[in-house]
Amino acid sequence: MENPFTPTFGEIPPILAGRSIILNELSRAYGASRRRPCLTTAITGARGSGKTALMAAAAEEACRRGWVVAKTVALPGMLDDILITARRESAHLVAETSTPRLSAVEIGQFVGLEWENPERLSNWRNEITLLLEQLERCGTGLLITVDEVQPTLPEMIQLASVYQLLVTEGRKVAMLFAGLPHNMLSLERDKRVSFLRRSQKMCLGRIADFEVREAMRKTVEEGGRQIEEEALDLAVEAAGGFPYMMQLVGFRMWDARDSCDPITTDDALEGVRIASAELLEGIVKVTYGGLSAGDKAFLSRMAKMEAPTSSKIAKAMGKSASYATQYKNRLLGQGVIEEGLDGVLRFQMPLLADYVAGLAQD
Ligand SMILES: Nc1ncnc2c1ncn2[C@@H]1O[C@H](COP(=O)(O)OP(=O)(O)OP(=O)(O)O)[C@@H](O)[C@H]1O
Ligand SMILES: [Mg+2]
Repeated sequence: MENPFTPTFGEIPPILAGRSIILNELSRAYGASRRRPCLTTAITGARGSGKTALMAAAAEEACRRGWVVAKTVALPGMLDDILITARRESAHLVAETSTPRLSAVEIGQFVGLEWENPERLSNWRNEITLLLEQLERCGTGLLITVDEVQPTLPEMIQLASVYQLLVTEGRKVAMLFAGLPHNMLSLERDKRVSFLRRSQKMCLGRIADFEVREAMRKTVEEGGRQIEEEALDLAVEAAGGFPYMMQLVGFRMWDARDSCDPITTDDALEGVRIASAELLEGIVKVTYGGLSAGDKAFLSRMAKMEAPTSSKIAKAMGKSASYATQYKNRLLGQGVIEEGLDGVLRFQMPLLADYVAGLAQD
């Protein structure tokens, strides 16, 4: 039997845990005649929190609703990429009349080429507007998704600026953009596109255990097997609400035996063991290794505390409140920790807390 779990990057898992509210909201917005705010949504979260998968699912839903989708990654050339993809994806709806065309002109026995409409001046904004007008005549719109947002990329700023104009003109256009928290923050701080601060925000933190449980069970069952209750408990606990770990544990426990029988506690234990080692080596150590000495000192204090808050950590470190706040914000921005409404800080990634606590003891 094929393993249904997807411990990779960007692949849409067969069952998405904890995303039904946002996906329903988007689905409603695609079908609405008046513009709804979620049509411009900024998605942030740590590596492996499910940004790309969520955007891909949102894009699929848009396609089902008849929208044209252009997916891109924030890299040089992204504006061309959006236009080319959007044209390709809408070819079945619109006649291709908006680009200057090459035509063959016979000169004696030679074939010469010339522009049919050489005098026409155009730019990206004009080209995308023409396409949107054509789509609108077909009663549909364009969704642009931008992954791995880079605040320093000039084309990112151009895209955002033109997008704002298109929205102001009442065009049927939507944009979902995803990136690590600090990249998104820097983009929103850029004065040229400060309207982005007013876009809808979706911060992907821990997924509630009951959602993880339901999604893991459904994934197993749709894959054609069953899972024992206790095995499911173990898997959910190890996943720690972190989508990537959920897929990793699921994948490994499914593979623990080459069998169609229900997944047992032993299978789950074996799966958790392998998945934990993989998460530790592949993500936890790499993430920790990329932090500054100050970040690490902050985390080390945090790992030793019950219900840590920024002010408690400041006290324990003998530092000022503003010093601790600065490091807290850095770590929040890197998606390493998250802050509850009560100000209590938690590690975002399973095993990172144990890893940091273990280092502190060495
Ligand atoms: N809601 C979800 N429920 C279950 N699994 C999910 C969910 N979202 C993502 N995943 C799984 O988690 C893993 C990471 O997802 P994804 O690649 O979307 O993360 P990401 O936030 O884009 O990471 P990165 O910042 O590295 O690009 C994938 O294996 C994916 O299948
Ligand atoms: Mg991604």
